[in-house]
Amino acid sequence: MRSDGDFDTDVLVVGGGPAGGAAALALATYGVRTVVIGKYGWVADSPRAHITNQRTMEVLRDLGVEEEALSVGTPQRFMGESVFCTSLAGEEIARIRTWGTEDERLTEYAAASPCPMLDLPQPYLEPVLIGNAARRGAKVRFDTEFLGLEQDSDGVTALLRDRLRGDEFTLRARYLIGADGGRSRVAEQIGLPFVGEEAKGGSMNIVFEADLTRHVQHRPGVLYWVVRPGEGIGGIGMGALRMVRPWNKWMAVWGYDINGPEPVLDHAEAKRVVTGLLGDRDIDVRIESTSLWSVNDMYAKAYSAGRVFCAGDAVHRHPPSNGLGSNTSVQDSYNLAWKLAHVLRGQAGPALLDTYSAERAPVGEQVVTRANRSTGEFVPLFEALGLGDGLMSGDAAAGVRRARLPTAEGARRRRELAEAMQLKHYEFSAHGVEMNQRYVSSAVVPDAGPDEEWRRDRDLYAQPSTRPGAKLPHAWLVDTAGHRLSTLDLVGGGCFTVVTGLAEGPWAEAARVCAAEFGIPLKVVRIDEDGARDVYGSWQRVTDGLDERGCLLVRPDCVIAWRRSTPVDGPAEAIAGLRGALRTVLHR
Ligand code: FDA
Repeated sequence: MRSDGDFDTDVLVVGGGPAGGAAALALATYGVRTVVIGKYGWVADSPRAHITNQRTMEVLRDLGVEEEALSVGTPQRFMGESVFCTSLAGEEIARIRTWGTEDERLTEYAAASPCPMLDLPQPYLEPVLIGNAARRGAKVRFDTEFLGLEQDSDGVTALLRDRLRGDEFTLRARYLIGADGGRSRVAEQIGLPFVGEEAKGGSMNIVFEADLTRHVQHRPGVLYWVVRPGEGIGGIGMGALRMVRPWNKWMAVWGYDINGPEPVLDHAEAKRVVTGLLGDRDIDVRIESTSLWSVNDMYAKAYSAGRVFCAGDAVHRHPPSNGLGSNTSVQDSYNLAWKLAHVLRGQAGPALLDTYSAERAPVGEQVVTRANRSTGEFVPLFEALGLGDGLMSGDAAAGVRRARLPTAEGARRRRELAEAMQLKHYEFSAHGVEMNQRYVSSAVVPDAGPDEEWRRDRDLYAQPSTRPGAKLPHAWLVDTAGHRLSTLDLVGGGCFTVVTGLAEGPWAEAARVCAAEFGIPLKVVRIDEDGARDVYGSWQRVTDGLDERGCLLVRPDCVIAWRRSTPVDGPAEAIAGLRGALRTVLHR
């Protein structure tokens, strides 16, 4: 059934995972006609992604699904202890407190965002995204496989297969998003340029049920790392037991030699692997499912070609270290959706769409590099335990005993062990990697003057900034009823916002003129007026040199597009400044 000229829909999203689900949800929220297809009968059945970082939670909050996500995830307070051991029931080698739960880091994480970290396995995240997308008008079609596409100057025609009936059909859209995962057919068809290496290591996931309460309740966490030399070559650096549901549903992650024959992973073998990691034969283990996957180190240098855009694992493929894959996928789509909405509504020029690749490809590169580096950063731990040749040989328990000797050698090993654990903060507390994205593109008007100065390690620590290209800093304000609300709650929602202070000068007038001129809604937020009072003074602490009579132009994705730090002389200067910024950002 064709309508609207020859178009069945405005945007066709291929894939209903974190990237596709988030794209569909954001587009539907912005009122864009969207069809999303998934190859299988339902969403992901395997709990791959789980660590959901604060930036992703902020995206979910803006899209109005944060509460639902919180209700199905495991809260941050249960995510903290990462234990390194010879087996779950065996010797404990070391522990590290992770995902913002370390004493020194808790307040930093809390101060950076209105949202907590959350453990939200993929099978619980995806229904939140897809379900709400459907409720808001996106057409969701499972059992539908993307086969190929052709694009012309007006749109994209996709060839699809109905996997229930078996027949093929076409669907015509103005734009197509390839969110079809690590083996993306869309990325291949549009010839995106990739760099890096595929299949560097082999890994297996084994989902199982077992009550592990007595081994974990005194040290609750989502990841228990198992050092078992002689086995588990490849993979993600070592064996892991991953909590899916506290404390009776789990996933074991174990490596295999990618250069050897593919392992036969029947239930008996899976049980052998799990029992080895548990180190306790008395635990009743029920294997639910198994799968093999490979570790990649690959990213695309560009994310789009013509009217086709790729997001998620389709363009960045890396190990799960740092828990960044699904997070980055959701954030890709959040970046793209408002741009598509504005171009489709005629509120922005098509060149705005080129900024998607310019802004997100550097993030993808950083994430792939970071995750692969983290996988390699287990080596100092093995060395501290005297395990030669990585995990190929040696006796971990003997290494632990040596590290406990009251001798000079023992002291050296203990020091090395502590240092090895410190290094892992770059994997488990890389708050800066998660929060410090800075966009450089023609959808951002850069400040004149010197580059941003990083006060602390950029990868480890979040640094709020009101510089163009950064996301609006979070600060708690108070509404008219006295309830707390975040600065981030006042922006987003698919619209541009002008953020200024109580002594705002002419910005409200400038916003009114520009909204009419550009034909876009333009919210005005005056921090410290009733409804947005800075009673804690926390906005003052993050304004980063912004005068109260200055102004921020904030994009629908809560990223600062332009900043006027100092007061203007009058309405004419304010209008000219805002107009110039909107013209640039909207490519009008
Ligand atoms: P994803 O692969 O999830 O989805 C692709 C979608 O496209 C699916 O719906 C599929 O059916 C569909 N599709 C594919 N081909 C199609 C076709 N031809 N036609 C129609 N549909 C098609 N990440 C994270 O952020 N935090 C974490 O803690 C972890 N942990 C983790 C652990 C383990 C063990 C693994 C293996 C991975 C992680 N990840 C992670 C990574 C995360 O799982 C991954 O980055 C995301 O699933 C990527 O989401 P996408 O939507 O891009 O692809």
